[in-house]
Amino acid sequence: MLVDKITTKEIALVGLGRVGLALAVLLHRAGARHLRVYDRNPERMAALKERLSASGPATLVAAASPAAAVAGAELVFLAVQDRFLAPLAADLAADEELELKGVRIAHLSGSLTADAGLAPLAGRGAVIFSLHPLQSLADVEGAVKGLAGSWFTFEGDQRGWPEAAATVAALDGRLVPLAAADKPLYHAAAVVASNFFIALEDFAIRLMTGIGVDDESARQMLLPLIRGSFENLERQSPLEALTGPIVRGDSATITAHLKVLGEKFPGEVETYRCLARLNLELARRRGEIDYADFPELRDGGQGAP
Ligand SMILES: NC(=O)c1ccc[n+]([C@@H]2O[C@H](COP(=O)([O-])OP(=O)(O)OC[C@H]3O[C@@H](n4cnc5c(N)ncnc54)[C@H](OP(=O)(O)O)[C@@H]3O)[C@@H](O)[C@H]2O)c1
Repeated sequence: MLVDKITTKEIALVGLGRVGLALAVLLHRAGARHLRVYDRNPERMAALKERLSASGPATLVAAASPAAAVAGAELVFLAVQDRFLAPLAADLAADEELELKGVRIAHLSGSLTADAGLAPLAGRGAVIFSLHPLQSLADVEGAVKGLAGSWFTFEGDQRGWPEAAATVAALDGRLVPLAAADKPLYHAAAVVASNFFIALEDFAIRLMTGIGVDDESARQMLLPLIRGSFENLERQSPLEALTGPIVRGDSATITAHLKVLGEKFPGEVETYRCLARLNLELARRRGEIDYADFPELRDGGQGAP
């Protein structure tokens, strides 16, 4: 079985934040027998040990340094923040006592290529790749739930694919290959889907507070609507899932929105107009309406959108 390829390996994990800790928990759950971990915050290692002993016999070794975690490992995950990857990789590569030839070493960044984070390790003969979970992991609890079943992308030295595939199989995830040149666009899509979505909902919450409710009430009021839209998107394409005044061709409603925003949130009119144009573009693809139906969304209310 694919998962067996991972459970018998000597695995090292450096960085036990949201992703690293969740990865350690899930690999342990999948039966990984040899896990060596290091984080520069001792309490993070203690938290992991406590979690694992609650879920069965802990076979975890807390290493005293990144190099001690990596020494003797066959597969290494560097789960530190992106900005710390290159210095960590450089430190490990400079340690002449470490045998790195053939060792599979991955980072988990969506924006950095394997080379950008780990090149010095490849210089020492390691097989480097990036294994990015396409998931938003805001805290450890969420990460343990969220990582399992996620899509992952693989980019880097193809010799690392079998270990990446076995890791993702252990997490019940799905793995797709990605070219290094495609990482920026891939990551832009992820940012739009995840970070921009949160920013968009914050925008909606702020507008809702304009009717006199507090932030938390606004969030609670909007959540079922957000959930409904999300569920529509689970069943249908965006083209089919789209509802609302723009796809109905209701220009008077959009004019009313722009008017009240101009009065109560003048700084947000341009944001609303940009988003409305994005909405209009999608509605237009459905073939029922056109730019001409919404003159108020033209540039400065005049030219083509
Ligand atoms: N969070 C997400 O939604 C998400 C999703 C997909 C991919 N990723 C990727 O996953 C990786 C980890 O992100 P994260 O969100 O888990 O970060 P995080 O929660 O900030 O955790 C990183 C951990 O690594 C520790 N660390 C940093 N440098 C270290 C070093 N040299 N030696 C030992 N420990 C070190 C940090 O300690 P300090 O706190 O002291 O710095 C922290 O405990 C990143 O590459 C990120 O891009 C994250």
